[in-house]
Amino acid sequence: MSLRPRLLGVGVAFSRALLAQDVHAVGNIFKPLASPAESVYNLSLLTFAVCGAIFLVVGGLTAYAIFRFRHKGEEDRSEPPQVYGSNQIEIAWTVIPILIVFVLTMSTARVTSAIQDKRMPADAVNVTVVGHQWWWEYRYPDLGIVTSNELHVPLNTKERPKVTSLNLESADVAHSFWIPQLAGKTDVIPNRVNHMWIDPREPGVYLGNCAEYCGTQHANMLVRVVVDSPEDFEKWAAQQKEDAAHPAAQPGRELFQSLSCVNCHTVKGTPAQGRFGPDLTHIMSRQTIASGMIPNNVDNLLRWVKDPQEVKPGNLMPNMQLTETENNLIVAYLSTLK
Ligand code: CUA
Repeated sequence: MSLRPRLLGVGVAFSRALLAQDVHAVGNIFKPLASPAESVYNLSLLTFAVCGAIFLVVGGLTAYAIFRFRHKGEEDRSEPPQVYGSNQIEIAWTVIPILIVFVLTMSTARVTSAIQDKRMPADAVNVTVVGHQWWWEYRYPDLGIVTSNELHVPLNTKERPKVTSLNLESADVAHSFWIPQLAGKTDVIPNRVNHMWIDPREPGVYLGNCAEYCGTQHANMLVRVVVDSPEDFEKWAAQQKEDAAHPAAQPGRELFQSLSCVNCHTVKGTPAQGRFGPDLTHIMSRQTIASGMIPNNVDNLLRWVKDPQEVKPGNLMPNMQLTETENNLIVAYLSTLK
């Protein structure tokens, strides 16, 4: 099958799988659903209005001049009056732009500091976001949870206000964490902790991107934020805290533990404690793999384990050169990690 129908098929299956959950499409900056995004949106409206007014004045005067002083036959070929300098006009077109720039600068500074200086409530959900080439790690230090690529946060309502506080770190190069409907971009810089916060007011899945070029698979370093009702979030957190539940003597498990998988991946409650790759303890609780690239199902897991480079060229997981039987055993094991 050629690539296009294959991608189409994946897309269709993907959207079907997601119908159950409301997905807020990527890039819809005109429908902010959290306070930081809303402040940025309001500021953009002001900027649009000011720029729109300037456009209308300049465009209007230009159109007027073109029409009013257009060439009208032969009647007048003399030079128009020559004007040299006018203090009023010079002052006007110096002062007005300065005022415009001043207003835009001050309102931007106000919005930026209002977002940055917000004090985090004591009951905020703390998450450490670690950018990796090319996936996201999410650590909840207070809850003892480590997951990847799908950030779960509780819904914020008037009755139960809830803020999620994000500390952003990088394991390698500069990335940028951006979910347009929730907040502005925040850079993710090595050896530095940047902070942002979100308080989503509608449940569902929010899509975002890495917004700083960070290598070949930058475009496939997708962000998914799952906003759960408070009850669903508790349930999710309780389930994520647990060790991997799986049958003790399972051939796939033994094979997994005998291979170098364990050097890069953690499966809680087993000898697999690697930290370079995503934590796999509850991999089957995620909707996607490869950082939001493809739906998480047995077929795609088989594809990935067989040759990760075919799915996401350049990513740091090597082709393990497994036989088909071994590949099936590993995926059978992964499928138990719910
Ligand atoms: Cu990470 Cu671009």
